[in-house]
Amino acid sequence: MTEDTLRKVRVVFCLFSIMDANLSSILVDMMSWAREAGAVHRRYFRGDELNVKSKLNDSDIVTVADKAAEQLLINHIRESYPDHSILSEESGEEDHAPEYRWVIDPLDGTTNFSQGLPSFCVSIGLEHGGETVLGVVYAAYLDELFHAVKGEGAFLNGERIKASDKSDLGQCVVATGFPVDKDMNPDNNLDNVARVLPYVRGMRRLGSAAMDLCYVAAGFLDGYWELNLHPWDVSAGLLIASEAGAEYTHFRHDRNISVLASGRNIHERMLSLLSDRPAGV
Ligand code: IPD
Ligand code: CA
Ligand code: CA
Repeated sequence: MTEDTLRKVRVVFCLFSIMDANLSSILVDMMSWAREAGAVHRRYFRGDELNVKSKLNDSDIVTVADKAAEQLLINHIRESYPDHSILSEESGEEDHAPEYRWVIDPLDGTTNFSQGLPSFCVSIGLEHGGETVLGVVYAAYLDELFHAVKGEGAFLNGERIKASDKSDLGQCVVATGFPVDKDMNPDNNLDNVARVLPYVRGMRRLGSAAMDLCYVAAGFLDGYWELNLHPWDVSAGLLIASEAGAEYTHFRHDRNISVLASGRNIHERMLSLLSDRPAGV
């Protein structure tokens, strides 16, 4: 059996272990659609037809690949689950609030993508009654498929993953990101970087919040925090991280979603280093 076949067998085996048949069939769709969105990413990646456009400013961009992947996902959901609602980054939200809501970032890491850097993915979360129950993140260039089911654990390409159990911050590698309004708002996270940097082995800025969270889930990162995120950045990733045993805390409530996710043994220490108020206040 080839490594690729083994990988597929492992993924199918994971699906059979899910108790709720309805959720398990939705998860099969999510994974297959995430791979299709990934194929869209690959088709445009490092090509010259990206058509990069600014949104809020030059740090907040969208490409044709974001839009094509989003349209593909929305079409699938509308066709297969017409009574579900959708919140998606480039199209916004439908105003009704039924039982199930899909929360989608069709391309997370667009700045990397537009530069030809390989850290980008599609992120799909499914909420039931307001709680995220399924999450899928697929990084097409790396062929990394993360998924989690509420109460059933988290997986990378079908193999169960676990968050870091390190307790010595000095041996930890953490990641962060910078808010897109950094050109006009001095509350730009550099205060937290200065507080954390002296105490960790290394600090990274990978450029995709969904992948940062999945890498915390897999223990590739020991921790990650960021300010001013949105539901589509974190919906799937927070479920995947928590199902892998990571802890997460919303450490500020005045800056959209501002969250720390980390291995549980460094969580309190990391929280004590992060500021719970705007820089300089
Ligand atoms: C961005 C990425 C980035 C984070 C930004 C997000 P996008 O999402 O997740 O890592 O720092 O805050 O907006 O725009 O590439 O989908
Ligand atoms: Ca995003
Ligand atoms: Ca995006």
